[in-house]
Amino acid sequence: MNENVLKDPTIPVADGVPLLGSAVSMLRNPLQFLRQQQAKQGPVFRVKAGPRELVILSGWDAVKFMNEDGKDCFVSNEFWGKLTRFWQCPHFLSAMDGSEHIEVRRNFKSSMVRGAAIERQEDIIRIVRDTVASYTEQGDTVSARSLTRTLTNSELFLLMTGNWPTVEPSVARSIAEYQRITFNVLVLGKWPRLMLLSPWYLWHKRQSFKFVRELQQQFETSPPTSGFFKAVMDIKGKMPGFTPGDYDFMFLAPFWAGLDTLGAGLTFLLREVVENPQATARLITELDQAVLEHGGIPDAETLRKLPELFGFCMEILRLYPVAFGNGRSASKDFEFSGYKIKKGENLLVFTTSTHFDEAFFPNPECFDPRRYDKEHNQHRQRYAFNPFGRGPHICLGAGMAESMMLTTVATLLSEYNISAAEPGKHYDMIFDPSPTLSDRFKVRIQKRHSNVPTDNSKTSG
Ligand code: HEM
Repeated sequence: MNENVLKDPTIPVADGVPLLGSAVSMLRNPLQFLRQQQAKQGPVFRVKAGPRELVILSGWDAVKFMNEDGKDCFVSNEFWGKLTRFWQCPHFLSAMDGSEHIEVRRNFKSSMVRGAAIERQEDIIRIVRDTVASYTEQGDTVSARSLTRTLTNSELFLLMTGNWPTVEPSVARSIAEYQRITFNVLVLGKWPRLMLLSPWYLWHKRQSFKFVRELQQQFETSPPTSGFFKAVMDIKGKMPGFTPGDYDFMFLAPFWAGLDTLGAGLTFLLREVVENPQATARLITELDQAVLEHGGIPDAETLRKLPELFGFCMEILRLYPVAFGNGRSASKDFEFSGYKIKKGENLLVFTTSTHFDEAFFPNPECFDPRRYDKEHNQHRQRYAFNPFGRGPHICLGAGMAESMMLTTVATLLSEYNISAAEPGKHYDMIFDPSPTLSDRFKVRIQKRHSNVPTDNSKTSG
């Protein structure tokens, strides 16, 4: 944080202890802590964690401000800059601002659209079947986090490269471990930089780069004609200041973008499936009916119209917001909600604070997929539902991620019985670095012996 910043002394300071400030609460459960402090301090408050400080802007007004009147008050480079400098990748999308950001974003846009997942829906179904089969070869109890990471990586590999996935669970794990440690050290500053020299980190880094090099070699030998990596190869040739670090980072970026987001979302979804039998039973009944009517898993557009399925997935994104805030810094002095924010302040726009606001989502702690049906449409309220962020950096892969989620969940629940490996045992949300569940949360997956016909059999592995 810029030491020259003049701090507004009237901004309330979140609960904490001398020296450490709120560090312990922020490490343990930042989502819960921010919600508590918002209720206590109001929409603007300062969080001190040791030497680091962050001003939190929360509530509906903050989301609106970031999107409308205040959109030029925020920059991303300071928050993500440590990663950019370490990697020497100045074209890392999340860390870019202004016209350069718009230009790079435009290049990638068409490869991350909903249509990409819709077009390859049959293949996504096949990936789910193949991945579950490979996981259950040794037994029917699997780590939910590991399974969903491999599923997400394999589906993204297909959608980004156009090729049949070759992402082994061990590679998926290395990519995830490499990301986890890098983010905890460089972006969040939770762990010391020494971690970047640990044999554990270096091993996963080597595995990740082996994967990246193989992909690069493949595309240098036969250049892709469409999709995300075609955009990367194009940018590489024409973008001024494009570095080798940019080139490497862009080969990992889509996998990193999907792991802690879609992967974690699916992990929370599996926990809800085993802990919420009523909502799950309604969902399975709906899916069985749809499969019967369509002679197999319905197409992606039909899945989106199934109220229980759509509502179940949206409710996961609301209640367990894996990207619960957007890290920024103030590009200039500005005022928000009666407080003066000084240029250079580190900020967190708590975009998903509205998810827990009674005014938009009555009884917000309750898991209720029916909030999203035609009658209620709670997610359609302006700026209320923000799992994919807001503003110029709003998730580029939102439509694609949603479609991947619907197809993956429809396949898992219509073709497998999923139950808790340890019935009655609850696993709490952990932050590692984003919200997720520990590898100890395991589910039992068994093929369902239903009479439901599956027309998608032509894709069955
Ligand atoms: C449930 C799944 C997902 C969630 C909840 C999610 C959430 C988010 C959020 C909140 C941001 C904004 C971060 C910020 O403003 O600092 C973001 C950015 C982004 N997401 Fe996602 N994401 C998901 C899946 C994906 C997937 C599958 C991809 C594609 C591979 C993707 C690609 C991106 C990209 C490229 C950006 C950066 C956009 C920019 O900086 O202009 N996301 N995502």
